[in-house]
Amino acid sequence: MNIIISDTEKALDRKAADEIANHIRRHPATVLGLATGGTPVGMYKELIRLHKDSDLDFSRITTFNLDEYIGIDHDHPCSYHAYMDENLFDHVNISKENINIPDGATDSPEKECESFEEKIKEVGGIDVQVLGIGHNGHIGFNEPGTPFESTTSVVELTQSTKEANSRYFDSIDDVPTHAISMGIKTIMHAKKILLIAKGEDKAEIMEKALFGPITPEVPASVLQLHPNVTVFVDKEAGSKF
Ligand code: GLP
Repeated sequence: MNIIISDTEKALDRKAADEIANHIRRHPATVLGLATGGTPVGMYKELIRLHKDSDLDFSRITTFNLDEYIGIDHDHPCSYHAYMDENLFDHVNISKENINIPDGATDSPEKECESFEEKIKEVGGIDVQVLGIGHNGHIGFNEPGTPFESTTSVVELTQSTKEANSRYFDSIDDVPTHAISMGIKTIMHAKKILLIAKGEDKAEIMEKALFGPITPEVPASVLQLHPNVTVFVDKEAGSKF
């Protein structure tokens, strides 16, 4: 595991964006796995800047997002569809038909999970998967206890995740109870993984995830078994290493 500790958040955003940009420059048809949450926003800003200032070309890339809430429309401001448009897709030259985000507004979430997995297989798998981490160690929305063998599925959010994500909603009662999440096995099949964490509040879980026992109770600990992971942390999130 390659661990890169940056002095500032800005430096971390730049390094993570550069890693993705360099991959896209070498492989213009890269299949990117993308994450949401507060952590990658700055990295996306940096990718947008690289697109505008140095012609970073998204026209041939394909993307798969990790997750989406069930039961809210794509145009709901808290949906991950809206998040991705606002934070990346509306500002780069990606082809809309190459964007894949689980459809949480569907009538048949189980079928949606199957077709999402199928689409990943059809394009030959994910080349570079970006991950954030929840305070309880979740990756995507794979909460503690999720089997490492899980593929894309319907998941129930824990109370702590609902509380953490309620900052984006009017109240905690508005946070959806379920989501569609890419599975842990699906994530582990990505050829390269970039795990990003910022802030003091992530220090403890990052230490557990990277150096603690490998257990479904800390979903991100599975990454210790992946052969190609680069971890980007600021000095706060890396303070317990
Ligand atoms: C959310 C997302 C995850 C994300 C995590 C951390 O629940 N489903 O993909 O990594 O929480 O979010 P943040 O970056 O805001 O701390």
